[in-house]
Amino acid sequence: MTDTPARRSLVIDNIGSLITNDSTLGKGPLGIIEHASVVIIDGPNDRTVEHVGPSGALADDRIDADGACVLPGFVDSHTHLVFAGDRAEEFTARMAGQPYDGGGIRVTTDATRSTPTHELDRLVRQRLAEAHRAGTTTIEIKSGYGLNVADEARSVEIARAHTTESTFLGAHLLPAEYEGRPDDYIHLVCDEMLQATAPNAKWIDAFCETGAFDADQSRAVLEAGRSAGLGLRLHGNQLGHGPGVQLAVDCGCASVDHCTYLSDADIAALAGSDTVATFLPAADFSTRQPYVDARRVIDAGATVALASNCNPGSSYTTSISFCIAIAVREMGMTIDEAIQAVTLGGAAALRRDDVGRLAPGSAGHAVILDAPTHHHLAYRPGVPLIRQTIGPLGPPTTQTRSTR
Ligand code: NIG
Repeated sequence: MTDTPARRSLVIDNIGSLITNDSTLGKGPLGIIEHASVVIIDGPNDRTVEHVGPSGALADDRIDADGACVLPGFVDSHTHLVFAGDRAEEFTARMAGQPYDGGGIRVTTDATRSTPTHELDRLVRQRLAEAHRAGTTTIEIKSGYGLNVADEARSVEIARAHTTESTFLGAHLLPAEYEGRPDDYIHLVCDEMLQATAPNAKWIDAFCETGAFDADQSRAVLEAGRSAGLGLRLHGNQLGHGPGVQLAVDCGCASVDHCTYLSDADIAALAGSDTVATFLPAADFSTRQPYVDARRVIDAGATVALASNCNPGSSYTTSISFCIAIAVREMGMTIDEAIQAVTLGGAAALRRDDVGRLAPGSAGHAVILDAPTHHHLAYRPGVPLIRQTIGPLGPPTTQTRSTR
């Protein structure tokens, strides 16, 4: 008989306001419990919530939240973390009036191709650490700056080394060497590149936009990905009205991301589907695009998410708090809706039901704020309110003390 090793437990106690995202556990749609504690158990691969309830629960280790708000760790369902270099000059020119058209993706592709794998991996780890400090505990990572078989394969491999939510985005932009031959490139993406990346990818994605790939090309990529066993997601309607949203719904994508330009028909299609509309407001901020009227989309009944879209061209931020503040100030979302969009919404966009909530059996990923309620995330924009992130990896915390 083998002994099962004891599983260490942690209680976050003396919580002023605990957001469970389970309306059966607490008040309102966020399931808020005041004067609460949450007990989290370490498992072999991850942490799990064992119990939520009134303050005073016991465990091996204890964090005193000292009256602060605790919420589920953020689920960032759209990032492009595998890249080298930055595009500060492009951003500076844009702030002086140059438009954004996505063409700078080739600049990052050159930088990424010429960077050794160990350095690319170090850059990804650095960005992940930044995201973790900012409260993100589940993250999707795309390739898309390799744009040839070898560099897409290593980009997806690096992504997969850091997250189960790895995405193959070979159809990000036509690489320079395929100029004038988009169909040849799409063939490469659907064939050799997909074979090289699929073992490390959970998802396939394409940039369906004027200047990138049209609806037929994007559909070919999605269908090839489906045949290879990958889940589907799509970039659509970022820079203007277009076919992206309708295509995503038609193909049964888990999520269509950006959705900056939406027709009434797009909104109706989203509302009648289980494709999540993922908004990326930091990209609209950094490219001077209009903000989405999220109210229209939510009121129609569609599921929405908010994500950082961290990338060097259109949105060089890992801050979900920043996205919340924009969504509330500029996009017509209530603070509660924005909090749900970065937790449950992100989880839905990744087809996950184990993250984005703090209820018995769910992942024990939590954020402790330096604030009494979640409202402060929008009310105090730009202030680093994440006191502590308890995520899937590493030790639970440096600020625990034993209680038994
Ligand atoms: O989601 N839209 C396409 N891809 C990224 C931008 C990438 C870049 O400019 O480097 C986005 O905004």
